Amino acid sequence: MLSTHSRFVGTGYYVPERIVTNHELSEVMDTSDEWIVERTGIRQRRWVPEGMTGAEMARRASMMALTDGDLVPADIDAIVLGTLSPDHFFPGTGVFLQRALGLEGVPCLDLRAQCSGFVYGLSVADAWIRSGQYETVLVVGVEIQSTGLDMSTRGRDMAVLFGDGAGAAVLQATQNENQGILTTRIHADGRHAEILWAEAASSSHHPRIDAKMIEEGRHFPTMEGKEVFRHAVTRMPEAVLEVLGENGLEPDDIDLLIPHQANLRISQMVQRRLGLSDEKVFNNIEKYGNTTAATIPIALAEAVREGLVNRGDLVCMVAFGSGFTWGASLVRW
Ligand code: UT7
Repeated sequence: MLSTHSRFVGTGYYVPERIVTNHELSEVMDTSDEWIVERTGIRQRRWVPEGMTGAEMARRASMMALTDGDLVPADIDAIVLGTLSPDHFFPGTGVFLQRALGLEGVPCLDLRAQCSGFVYGLSVADAWIRSGQYETVLVVGVEIQSTGLDMSTRGRDMAVLFGDGAGAAVLQATQNENQGILTTRIHADGRHAEILWAEAASSSHHPRIDAKMIEEGRHFPTMEGKEVFRHAVTRMPEAVLEVLGENGLEPDDIDLLIPHQANLRISQMVQRRLGLSDEKVFNNIEKYGNTTAATIPIALAEAVREGLVNRGDLVCMVAFGSGFTWGASLVRW
């Protein structure tokens, strides 16, 4: 009997209209287009307008993915949503998305795996589908970073990196052994939790946030950039080799690698370590910056629309981020 697993039936994305260039940032903090491009490859990012929520961006990306798969919201059996910037402390953004899609009853699981949220989401969705629990699962990565960054020179190392956006994919059960997710493997190492984090607001403080904490900037995300970089360029190739190895495949077999878009220099180093040529690695960080959980599904949706992903292609998505968390998913498209 053929085993059930998941295939991608639709992809979609949404980014806010407002483009924020490096030049604009250099007007509010001590930075420059040159520094940002040289160190990160980023030229611009998108920021949400007042009133735009993560759930609404997720709804737009999800509708695009559903339409792409000739499906309607009622076809969804479960929602998995990755974000580090939920619309509210609770409940999770997933239920707001569910409501916006006009659904009720289907489960909504919010995943807190930061930049690895989408790959973690694929792991969960594929496991549900393989077990027969659900047939059609919506996996979303959505992030609003712009409302939470320190836009002064104090926060420049973080503020120039991040952007807003949403990406979505619909997975559906298949028994076609020549198509679908082959393997997803996810990992974490909490020893490094504070290297890239936002300390507050936090239930471990009473009250969860106060004026002094705000004054000290403890509600802004902080990062030891060099340490994160060092781990990312080790863990990402390792994760790719892991999922390839489990399928008896080599880097050379990959048709398209979609790395988490954290820094163009990281993607280039991962590419070199895997010995891949330029046309086999998808990058769009110059347009959107790092949209954390949303980078991979946005990139996937764009790659599909650019004709870079075709039936039968071997596609690998790989992520690394705060936690640390990381993982890779290998797909026969
Ligand atoms: O998505 C999750 C994972 N995130 C990542 O993977 C990010 C990983 N890390 C990185 O991408 C890089 O470490 C950064 C891009 C964040 C920083 O690049 P770097 O080459 O590691 O620079 P640095 O932090 O060592 O800073 C070098 C200099 C410092 O000045 P001094 O001390 O040498 O005088 C910084 O203060 O650059 C300064 N700097 C800036 N200058 C202009 C830091 N940020 C900026 C800025 N504009 N935005």
